[in-house]
Amino acid sequence: MLPCANPSPFFSWQFSAVPKLPSQPPKTKIVAVLNGKGGVGKTTTAVNLAAVYAESSQVLLIDTDPQGSATWWTQRKTNSLKFQVQSGTNVQKIKDLRTANQQNLIVVDTPPGLESEILQAVIPVVDYLVLPTPPAPMEIAVLIETVRTLVKPSGIAHRVLLTRVDPRSLREALDAQNTLMELGIPAFHAFVRSYKAHERSALEGQPITQWKGKYSKEAKADYCRVVDEIKRDWES
Ligand SMILES: Nc1ncnc2c1ncn2[C@@H]1O[C@H](COP(=O)(O)OP(=O)(O)OP(=O)(O)O)[C@@H](O)[C@H]1O
Ligand SMILES: [Mg+2]
Repeated sequence: MLPCANPSPFFSWQFSAVPKLPSQPPKTKIVAVLNGKGGVGKTTTAVNLAAVYAESSQVLLIDTDPQGSATWWTQRKTNSLKFQVQSGTNVQKIKDLRTANQQNLIVVDTPPGLESEILQAVIPVVDYLVLPTPPAPMEIAVLIETVRTLVKPSGIAHRVLLTRVDPRSLREALDAQNTLMELGIPAFHAFVRSYKAHERSALEGQPITQWKGKYSKEAKADYCRVVDEIKRDWES
């Protein structure tokens, strides 16, 4: 059975054996997917994290990238989506994200480049940063610099997510995880392996949770493991 076939509770008060009435509505959690480099898997990660979370929570995906890739991906088959999607390139609207929305979780896809006004607006409102990167040493080196200069000073919880990992050769990913660990940079234990399924599901306008095709189960399972780790971080 897939790790997220039996979703663990996102907010423990909602699912605990002896339910307690919350005195306040649950706080919206905001996760942003960030890496200054282009083409590293930000949008793929944002859409699929939103889709996996949406199996057990109310989710809003905000596309802050003016390229609009997440919007393009998800707006062609809207009726089958289990989460809402909004384009969100307006800086003031980004600043108001938390107060203007009621969902349990907001996932923010961000544009490449670290200097944008959009990113400057996103960082202060988020609770957690997912930093996707392929495991190649040059990509890791750039991300390490970003973590040092931008992410650590922000004080926001974060983990590096190794993406586009060759399933036939996990060595590079393991080396990358070791390098990050030695530098004290948190990384997900889960990897996102490289499968054509990710490209094809995007082309067909479906998140990996709904796409049916070769290696779709493996590709979905990778994102389920990532979501499980984020939930554990929030529960601890
Ligand atoms: N795990 C994966 N396996 C195979 N292909 C992948 C995987 N993740 C992403 N891709 C592909 O890599 C390309 C870039 O991915 P994506 O658009 O998610 O990156 P991005 O960081 O959002 O790019 P940009 O910076 O341009 O917004 C896409 O064609 C996508 O389908
Ligand atoms: Mg993108």
